[in-house]
Amino acid sequence: MMQADVPIDKYEYYEERFDERAGGKVLTKSGANHKPKKTRGQILADLTDDTSDVDLSFHTTYKPSRHEEGWLLSSLQSLYDEGLITDVLSLVKGGKEASVYLCEAHPATGLGLLAAKVYRPRMFRNLRNDAMYRQGREVLTSQGRPAGKQAGTIARAIRNQTVFGQQAAHTSWLMHEYTALERLYEAGAAVPRPVGASDNAILMSYHGDERMAAPTLNTVDLEPGEAEALFQEVLRNVDLMLQYDLIHGDLSAYNILYWEGEITMIDFPQVVNLRTNEKARTILQRDIRRTCEYFAQHGVVGDPDAIADQFWRRYVAELDAEDLAADLSRLELALADLEVETVGGAGSSVQDSKEIARRLGSTK
Ligand SMILES: Nc1ncnc2c1ncn2[C@@H]1O[C@H](COP(=O)(O)OP(=O)(O)OP(=O)(O)O)[C@@H](O)[C@H]1O
Ligand SMILES: [Mg+2]
Repeated sequence: MMQADVPIDKYEYYEERFDERAGGKVLTKSGANHKPKKTRGQILADLTDDTSDVDLSFHTTYKPSRHEEGWLLSSLQSLYDEGLITDVLSLVKGGKEASVYLCEAHPATGLGLLAAKVYRPRMFRNLRNDAMYRQGREVLTSQGRPAGKQAGTIARAIRNQTVFGQQAAHTSWLMHEYTALERLYEAGAAVPRPVGASDNAILMSYHGDERMAAPTLNTVDLEPGEAEALFQEVLRNVDLMLQYDLIHGDLSAYNILYWEGEITMIDFPQVVNLRTNEKARTILQRDIRRTCEYFAQHGVVGDPDAIADQFWRRYVAELDAEDLAADLSRLELALADLEVETVGGAGSSVQDSKEIARRLGSTK
């Protein structure tokens, strides 16, 4: 699915194609130089809006608007060429950063209906507080692999916000969503099954039926008594993500689908690494707080700080300097107490260590 044969030098291709043009050295087909009439923004928009050089060989039941058509079809073309989809049936939801479409899977895949999340070109320039999420995670190429030797060049381009850098950031953002889905789906998380990816779209299992897509949890009237089990299921998924060093980063009832009593967590481009992102703990706390706020409205009370702390202790406490210092001072206190009690007598070291362990346990 992942165009494994696309060379990593694709970035050089983008760099050449767009930075040179943006810089004024435009080569026409005949090779003659001329001054660019387009602004950088227009050139950027061309990346997905201009389909003049793309051979669009598939026709869709869904009729996109004139503005949508270029980026939609060029984004899905490679998924069509790979034999994954045969048609686009309808728009599921148009959003600020991406639109999701209902697609018909190729019969050979045996998959029926699929959802294609197509990123907006505008997102190149408008990633949601992107830097906070990018911190501590690698740049991923369009094959979903870390950028390797080229990482430095690409990171510089992203920092300098060159057109090439924006494209690389965009691809990396999308690939983080895709690779997170791959890992989590394999691990048994309640997430859509990833089926394929292109430079600008992610193809995954569709949740819902022909009539309607699964609604997001914030719009659902839950049955009495249903909320508790769903709350536990969300926490099971958060726990599973942490086992893979991942934090959702935008978890809320808006990013959880509900269908026939089951939930599915979606929308992962901003996933952060538990161990390398400096804000990981704050981001985890926010995810838990939003989850608790939603379930509190349905009568399930959870203490967000306590839950987040518990997760943090389970997965990263041993790396956390504050926790280590707290443990150390408790140990010192326990030792001091013991010294006072055994002064004058020669206590057994085995008994002493058992007593320390007991006291540490009881002060936790
Ligand atoms: N696999 C899926 N099956 C069915 N519907 C889906 C699926 N994935 C996403 N959707 C629908 O598309 C919407 C947008 O998806 P997602 O949350 O991943 O994108 P987004 O970037 O948050 O977009 P927005 O800017 O609209 O919030 C979801 O709220 C949901 O209604
Ligand atoms: Mg969303």
